[in-house]
Amino acid sequence: MITLTKDMEIGVPKIDAQHKELVDRLNAVTSMGARSVTKEETKKTLDLLGAYIIKHFGDEEALQKQSGYPNYEAHRKQHQIYINEFKKLKEEFEANGTSAKFTLHLNHSMIQWIVKHIKTVDAEFGKYYRNK
Ligand SMILES: [Fe+2]
Repeated sequence: MITLTKDMEIGVPKIDAQHKELVDRLNAVTSMGARSVTKEETKKTLDLLGAYIIKHFGDEEALQKQSGYPNYEAHRKQHQIYINEFKKLKEEFEANGTSAKFTLHLNHSMIQWIVKHIKTVDAEFGKYYRNK
């Protein structure tokens, strides 16, 4: 489980609210592994997460483009990497359910990755956006 801590706020209200929702959706997937839920329910929770990742990145990229953010392309590439990691997570789920490998991938490539991304890459954009 992750909590959106103060040091994860980037100072752009719309993006901060979306990060909160993203964290909630990641936590929803985490809690699936701990409870005994049907494969269908886990699949639905994963699909909601996937849809929200796309929506959030799209909105964040639009804000960057619209504000003339110079690191837009590099930032977008990071988002593509994350989308790919999500695809791998889904494949892992379809092949073996919520296995140990799935949990490891979720914790490492999805949760730790996004926390770091928010604290560094997104924070950098937040700083630019607030000062422009
Ligand atoms: Fe980002």
